[in-house]
Amino acid sequence: MKKIGVLISGRGSNLQALIDAQRKGELGGEIAIVISNVESAPGLERARRAGIPAVFRDHRGKSREAFDADLVAEMREHGVELVCLAGFMRLLSPTLVRAFRGRILNVHPALLPAFPGLDAQRQALEHGVKLSGATVHVVDEGLDSGPIVMQEAVRVLGADTVETLSARILEAEHRIYPRAVRALLEGRCRTEGRRVVVEGE
Ligand code: GRF
Repeated sequence: MKKIGVLISGRGSNLQALIDAQRKGELGGEIAIVISNVESAPGLERARRAGIPAVFRDHRGKSREAFDADLVAEMREHGVELVCLAGFMRLLSPTLVRAFRGRILNVHPALLPAFPGLDAQRQALEHGVKLSGATVHVVDEGLDSGPIVMQEAVRVLGADTVETLSARILEAEHRIYPRAVRALLEGRCRTEGRRVVVEGE
């Protein structure tokens, strides 16, 4: 079984979607460690309930490089081959990106390259787009800029608020994140330049 490390900072609903897929044998790997940089993150409890090692690692008082080097060491100790960012509210340093080059995924609540960064659902709503959605992409040194693995579109409705739109996008995130992880771990992703071709999708 290929080992996955999940980095979180909060709620952990995407982590839960990965856990649920793993339970059903649909993840293509096994979550070996969950690390949160926020002690009170509810996601830690979700992992523990599922019997997955889950730890809090404080980034405060450390340089970004030093903190990320610790994360790399800890994930290597657990044999991690794929890193999943799931609401991890920190920019990654080149140290972490290089250590797992091409093997870090993130889920973002918009159809990238539209609306990168924070508050993507609000950005989409305020811009007036009629379609937004969810994106799973490979993480590179930029902000939400890496090659796109999977996307699902979500219609923006006239009556939508940030909350209602976010809730529908979140459902899409939960559908595509486990599928993208599985495709990558099963070797069904072929990269051509910045284009990722996913076999069977
Ligand atoms: C999700 O909307 C994800 O796209 C973004 O942060 C949020 C995390 O939610 N990167 P959760 O912690 O997985 O519930």
